[in-house]
Amino acid sequence: MDQIIVTGNGPLSGQIPIAGAKNACLTLMPATLLSEEPLTLTNAPRLSDIRTMTTLLQSLGAEVQALQDGQVLAMSSHDLTSTRADYDIVRKMRASILVLGPLLARFGHAEVSLPGGCSIGARPVDLHLKAFEAMGAELDLRDGYVHAKAPAGGLQGGIVKFPFVSVGATENALMAATLAKGTTVLKNAAREPEIVDLAQCLRKMGAQIDGEGTSEITIQGVDRLGGATHRVVTDRIELGTYMLAPAICGGEVECLGGRIDLVAAFCEKLDAAGISVEETPSGLKVARKNRRVSAVDVTTEPFPGFPTDLQAQMMALLCTAEGTSVLEEKIFENRFMHAPELARMGAKIEVHGGTAKVTGVEKLRGAPVMATDLRASVSLILAGLAAEGDTIVSRVYHLDRGYEHVVRKLSGVGAKIERVKEQ
Ligand code: UD1
Repeated sequence: MDQIIVTGNGPLSGQIPIAGAKNACLTLMPATLLSEEPLTLTNAPRLSDIRTMTTLLQSLGAEVQALQDGQVLAMSSHDLTSTRADYDIVRKMRASILVLGPLLARFGHAEVSLPGGCSIGARPVDLHLKAFEAMGAELDLRDGYVHAKAPAGGLQGGIVKFPFVSVGATENALMAATLAKGTTVLKNAAREPEIVDLAQCLRKMGAQIDGEGTSEITIQGVDRLGGATHRVVTDRIELGTYMLAPAICGGEVECLGGRIDLVAAFCEKLDAAGISVEETPSGLKVARKNRRVSAVDVTTEPFPGFPTDLQAQMMALLCTAEGTSVLEEKIFENRFMHAPELARMGAKIEVHGGTAKVTGVEKLRGAPVMATDLRASVSLILAGLAAEGDTIVSRVYHLDRGYEHVVRKLSGVGAKIERVKEQ
């Protein structure tokens, strides 16, 4: 297994290109199942999660070709051979559940393995299933699989009121509703940029959708969808992560492709901490104003609030702030596993349930640490940039799920970082 070694070496400067969004791509790829005509995605990120989704779609009989070094995904679901998503693939990635809506809508039935637990909490899929029930589907949970069946004439439009906001359930319901009979209204829908991106792509395929980006989305079902070519939106989480690099160890970095509207709540917190963010013609330029950042309190919320997927990285920054910050995690239980690892580097963090109190220290110290999940792993790399000495991060396969070329991108702005085989 590989390790990443980071040696804190002072201010960074230069540019970092930001990739297409993993989470958008993971919902745009299953959209190919809705149509027998080709769907081509450009600006796709090169990540192991994308390869897992490729394997899943191929197991259903879809053609998926990765072109231009993986940045273009040419897909066709003309000749699907299966409507069953097997446990062996689904267990690797929760987002696999996103094939259920498209398969059910186009073929009237589908069997998808239940994703099971994961390291950041229970993460059930009940909201996805309730949405399909509201569209007339019959669901049966047997042998670890969801067996879903649409009524004889296909899924029916209906009112789906989510009891709380779920990104995945909104995406799954949105895809299914495009081919349902009549009108579907999704209430308390997620408003994330990835949902807007999905709706825009579906519209290019011929879907009739209104209201994406608000909490009420209305979909008028159509008989069939066609093909399309679509550019995946910028990854706002990768963007926020690299914006934190100069914030944590000084310097000035321009994140190419960055847009304020994707990370507005995050930028407000950076501003309060003493980090300047400036829009440029090609992205966002980030610089630290003072020797140390100031403490800020952060609460994670659905979009447009502060994203849970940037909480671990923000915590790394606040570990070196002047004063005490309180971080409240409202989306996932058990999402502070990076805290004990950061503590190994000298951070002062007290966790009580969903709240972490972080008292900034003058300097972190490098240490051997372990990545526990995707965002936690990159928070340790950020902390390593600001630490004295070497930080050795193991279990970096978590990182490969969501960050392409992390070593190349950070060394390109002057960081001392390398990937080695574990001794
Ligand atoms: C997506 C993102 C993930 C991000 C999360 C929240 C993808 C592939 N992943 O995950 O990176 O952290 O949004 O922004 O896009 N819940 C239920 N029942 C359900 C569905 C969700 O109880 O049926 C709960 C979850 O356990 C969680 C909360 O709802 O506590 C929000 O989860 P959700 O928005 O669905 O996250 P994902 O779509 O899985």
